[in-house]
Amino acid sequence: MSLEFIEPVDKDKIVNMLLSAYADEWIAAYYYTLTAYSLRGHLSEELGEHFLKEAEEEIGKHSRMLADRLQDFNVDPPREFAKLWELSKCKYPEIPGDPYDVDGWIIAAVKAEECAIQSYRELYAYTHGKDPVTEELAEDILRDEVRHRTALLNLLSSDGVKRLKG
Ligand SMILES: [Fe+2]
Ligand SMILES: [Fe+2]
Repeated sequence: MSLEFIEPVDKDKIVNMLLSAYADEWIAAYYYTLTAYSLRGHLSEELGEHFLKEAEEEIGKHSRMLADRLQDFNVDPPREFAKLWELSKCKYPEIPGDPYDVDGWIIAAVKAEECAIQSYRELYAYTHGKDPVTEELAEDILRDEVRHRTALLNLLSSDGVKRLKG
């Protein structure tokens, strides 16, 4: 029995959840970067900066925290890039064809954050009281994802808010 766990704990299940979250972070970072460079029109420059900053947190902080935790289980990141898409539970919501549809791009990101929030809630719930190290990781990242979602919601126009609710 390992000292860091309070048995019984299904380590394979935790590893799979960590791998799926790791893939989600890479995909979110990619699409946020794509969003930053694709948006056109009013304030697209400022919005681009916002998306690049979020991408940086997904890839520079979250994916690294997950990779570090996976190392504790002796698991390396997937060798095949395509495997990330396969492992990802969230993938990415559909993006607008129109680069001027700023609300549409933000709505896709809000949905991506909501999927991430759900995943980290599940990871937190599963590890709660059983695997304190992963539990704390899930709590930390969850806090960031909730902040991302709030920031994105605040960028929507009033029409965008209606579209999101509809
Ligand atoms: Fe993230
Ligand atoms: Fe996020």
